[in-house]
Amino acid sequence: MARQFARAELAPIAKEIDEEGRFPWEAVEKMGPLNFFGMQAPRAYGGAEMDTLSYCLAIEEISRVCAAVGLTIAVHNSVVVYPLSKFGDDRQKAKFLAPLAAGEKIGAFCLTEPNAGSDAMAIESTAIREGDAYVVNANKIFVTNGGVADTLIIFVSVNPDDVKKGFSAILVERGTPGFEVGLLENNCGMRANPVCSIALTDCRVPKENLLGREGDGFKVAMAALDTGRIGIAAQAVGIGQGALDVSLKYAKERIQFRVPIARHQAIQMMLADMGTMVEAARLLTLQAAYVKDQGGEVAGPSAMAKLFAGRTASKVVSMGVQIHGGYGYSRDYPIERYFRDARATEIYEGTNEIQQIVIARELLKREEE
Ligand code: CAA
Repeated sequence: MARQFARAELAPIAKEIDEEGRFPWEAVEKMGPLNFFGMQAPRAYGGAEMDTLSYCLAIEEISRVCAAVGLTIAVHNSVVVYPLSKFGDDRQKAKFLAPLAAGEKIGAFCLTEPNAGSDAMAIESTAIREGDAYVVNANKIFVTNGGVADTLIIFVSVNPDDVKKGFSAILVERGTPGFEVGLLENNCGMRANPVCSIALTDCRVPKENLLGREGDGFKVAMAALDTGRIGIAAQAVGIGQGALDVSLKYAKERIQFRVPIARHQAIQMMLADMGTMVEAARLLTLQAAYVKDQGGEVAGPSAMAKLFAGRTASKVVSMGVQIHGGYGYSRDYPIERYFRDARATEIYEGTNEIQQIVIARELLKREEE
C-alpha cells in the first residue's frame, strides 16, 4: 500500500514540492485515513499497531519516492507518537494520541537549540513550576515538521541550576499564548518539510502535560531517538533505492558510443556496487527493527543501522549523479534531489559521530560483560 500510494500520489508532486518548498497537504490529508500517522500507535487510540519491521518497509517506500514526506511520517511516528505511547499517562494518551494517530494533528520533537546539538544535555530551555502550570521559555531550532506541528514534545529543564537533574519533556500545543513559529530553515535538502525554529516565551503549560516525571526527560529523549534512528535508517535505504531506480532507468535510456550506457562495464560496476550497498543497509536496518520487535536492547543496533544506511545513501546517490553525468548535476533530473536529501540522514537524529559514540559504548559494555 505504501508503495502504491507513493507512486500514485507522491511521484507526480515530489519535484514540484521540493522546488517550491511546499508542504504537500493534499497528499498528507490522504495519508491520515490510511494510518500513515499512527503506524505503531495502539489500536485503542486508532493506530495500526504495526511491528517495527513493517514500519521500516513503509518508511522506505515513501522515502524512495519523496524523502521529505518520509521524514514527516518518520519523525511523527517514532519520536512523537512512540514516546507518547510509552511514557504518556492515560489522560495524555486520551487527549493527544488519537488525533496524532489519525493524522488530524502533526507532531514535532524539539530538542535541538542554538547551543545544544550533539550535546543534548546543554539545553538552556526552562520550565518553571508556578501553581498548576509550568512557565516555559524555550528557543528550539531545526524542528522537523515545525511549521505544521500541532503537538510538540519540548525538552526543558525544570531546574536551571542543575540541567541534568531537571531535564524534562513537556507536551505543548500550538496556539498556546507565547508559542511562536519562527522562520523556515533554508535547508539544502528535504525542502518540502517545514523545518523551522519554535520559540516559547513565558508560555503557561498545564502541569499535567509533563511527559514522564521531572528529571526523566533525557531518558525520554534517548528512548525516542533509539527508535527514531531505525526510521531514519529506513529512510536512507529508501533514498538509496530511489537513486538506484532512477540510475537504472537512465542507464538504459542514455546512448553513448552508440549503445545504452548500461552496456558499458564502468556503469555496470557502479550499478552493482549501488545495489549491493543498498541491500546491506536494508538488512542492517531490518535487523535493528527485528531486535526492537523482540524487545531487545536497541541503542546499538539502531545506531549501527543509521550510521551505515546514512553513509550508504550518500555514497549511492553520488554514484547515481556520476552515472547521469552532466544531467545528474542539473535540477531537471530527480537524482539531484536524492543527492541533496541523502546528506541529512548523516546528520539529523544524531550525526554519524554520535552514532559512533553510542556504538563504541555498547561494544565496550559487551566486552566488559
Ligand atoms: N537510553 C536510555 N537512557 C540513556 C541512553 C539511552 N539510549 N543514553 C544515555 N542514557 C542515560 C544514561 O544512562 C545516563 O543516565 P544516569 O545519569 O542515570 O546514569 C543519562 O542518560 C545521561 O547519559 P550520558 O552521560 O551518556 O549523556 P551524554 O551527555 O554523554 O550524551 C549522547 C549521550 C548519546 C551523546 C546524547 O547526548 C545524544 O544522543 N546526543 C545526540 C542528540 C541527537 O540525536 N540530536 C538530534 C535531535 S532530533 C533531530 O534531529 C530533529 C528532528 O526532528 C529529526
